[in-house]
Amino acid sequence: MPAPRPGRVLVAEEALAARVAELGREIARDYARSNPVLVGVLLGAVPFVADLVRELPIDLTLDFLRAASYGSATTSSGTVQILTDVTVDVAGRDVLLVDDIVDTGFTLAALKRVLEARRPRSVRTCVLLDKADRRETDITIDYVGFKITNVFVVGYGLDYGGLYRNLPHVAVLDGV
Ligand code: IMP
Ligand code: MG
Repeated sequence: MPAPRPGRVLVAEEALAARVAELGREIARDYARSNPVLVGVLLGAVPFVADLVRELPIDLTLDFLRAASYGSATTSSGTVQILTDVTVDVAGRDVLLVDDIVDTGFTLAALKRVLEARRPRSVRTCVLLDKADRRETDITIDYVGFKITNVFVVGYGLDYGGLYRNLPHVAVLDGV
């Protein structure tokens, strides 16, 4: 059997750009005067965050964190290992946690709890892609780019075994 490869384009470059601009307008309106801390989740959220911040004509602080990717059996315990933490002090700040995709929700729920323990003013979440049917936690996602069905996707930050993050669009992975 050949190695899995990117197949059908699910979200084209133009559609990504248009939706990211819309999200930017919404987020800029909601955070106009709060100087939020936008926290991107490495590595997958990098292209999304890079495009999103350029659609935010507001004062903000940008930071990143990197979490260990466990299977959901481990993350469901409510713990997540932070491999690289943010350096900004989020106490009293409005935090917007940005990730590429939410699936079961365990990762974002755990990261949200970690940040909430640091006494920020608020923590909200933003994802480019939402596999809503797969959710196993009751986390609220405040900003969603696209709801998608349960297919494995790559590109625009999303990887399969470390590959394909650099595609400019989101494609369905073939051969899995
Ligand atoms: P969750 O904790 O189940 O919500 O998992 C979210 C994480 O799983 C994401 O941050 C991705 O790293 C990974 N993931 C889930 N679905 C996909 C996919 O379709 N393509 C690539 N990565 C995915
Ligand atoms: Mg990820």
